[in-house]
Amino acid sequence: PLSARVHNHDFLEIGGCDVTTLVKRFGSPLYILDEETLRSACQQYRDAFKQYYKGESQVLYASKAWNCLAVCAIAASEGLGIDVASGGELYTALQAGVSPDKIYLHNNNKSREELIFAIESGCTIVVDNWHELRTLVEIVETLYTKSLSQNPRLLLRLTPGIECHTHEYIRTGQLDSKFGFDPNQLEELFSFISKQSALNCVGLHAHIGSQIFERQPHRDLAALMVQWLQEAAKYGLKLTELNVGGGLGIKYIESDDPPSIEEWVKPICEVIQQTCAVENLPLPKLLCEPGRSLIATACVTAYTIGSSKVIPEIRTYVAVDGGMSDNPRPITYQAVYRAVVANKMSSPLTETVTIAGKHCESGDILVKNALLPKTEPQDILVVMGTGAYNYSMASNYNRLPRPAAVVVANGEANLILQRETYQDLIRQDCLPQRLKS
Ligand code: LLP
Repeated sequence: PLSARVHNHDFLEIGGCDVTTLVKRFGSPLYILDEETLRSACQQYRDAFKQYYKGESQVLYASKAWNCLAVCAIAASEGLGIDVASGGELYTALQAGVSPDKIYLHNNNKSREELIFAIESGCTIVVDNWHELRTLVEIVETLYTKSLSQNPRLLLRLTPGIECHTHEYIRTGQLDSKFGFDPNQLEELFSFISKQSALNCVGLHAHIGSQIFERQPHRDLAALMVQWLQEAAKYGLKLTELNVGGGLGIKYIESDDPPSIEEWVKPICEVIQQTCAVENLPLPKLLCEPGRSLIATACVTAYTIGSSKVIPEIRTYVAVDGGMSDNPRPITYQAVYRAVVANKMSSPLTETVTIAGKHCESGDILVKNALLPKTEPQDILVVMGTGAYNYSMASNYNRLPRPAAVVVANGEANLILQRETYQDLIRQDCLPQRLKS
């Protein structure tokens, strides 16, 4: 995080708060969100569009990376809109006070209830497929013949057929993807939309994947999307919004080399401006929806070290009090992370150890071969860059309560997610009468 520094020679401080003190106060494991880093990333996106794009623009935070009231509220206070991927994320964004005209709902299989919730909230729906489109027409025609103050506002999600080098589970741009309309059906799609007076289709969306380091795929995407706009115009559709999705990667470890936010935004703006100029098209309102690159580096997870196991000449395991339930990324995507010891920041790095979680799976490893100072039980191990897809993908595997989260700024720490309790774990359990002893 931006505000991280070492104080008293050996101790890690974030947002002006000593990490070991935070753990004493709020418990372990603990997600620690640095407000300054999150706000700075929001501002970098906003400023880059302001600098490089001559038309209107709107940055949305892809809240799937970390959806909770406080994070939505911080992003919204920086002028960002929110991309939500389900009724639950939509509900959270609305409860956080985000204005519905800045909320965009995704998902490849929205339920009828989610569509009705979205229509009634007034957010924009990013339509993914024919089934959804027909359901929307049916909902509007049957439920809302006259009563809607405005027709549902839509974007159409198309599969661009652009591949990029990232983990296959988080690639979405290729034609063989479950997301979006097939671009070979553009004619059918635009012709259908042009006849739907009850639907207010305002633009197009595409997203090609996540943790992307290359810049060319998004340039190609931007050019392609302008072609689609032009195609739509042939059907009398005046589409005014283009949403190029998210996907900018971040530096988890030293060898990762992603472009900066500015370096990612600039070519997208340039390609859209150039292509529109050549084709004599008005500039669309340009949207993007980064998740990871806004929040990943703003958070660390602090754990307490417990047991360890030395296997001579092979490996030393050092176990912490969390694992795949609070950070499922290593076991799911072979994701790599960097770790430090918060109370031994200046000690020499003498040990190469494998940091294991406490779950009953051998694959529950947080960091393989971490270079650390000599550790002992009660040391506070900090895994860096855990803001994206950690809390949001957390589970209660082995019935571990989910950790608490705090936001830190200017020496102050505020709880944003309470630690789950054992009572929370059985809150939704039901014990049928006949099973009671
Ligand atoms: N827009 C759409 C439609 C998306 O599906 C996603 C991510 C984003 C935006 C934001 O992408 P980002 O800027 O965060 O790369 N759980 C995986 C990542 C899954 C990404 C899903 N969609 C992981 O932990 O790496």
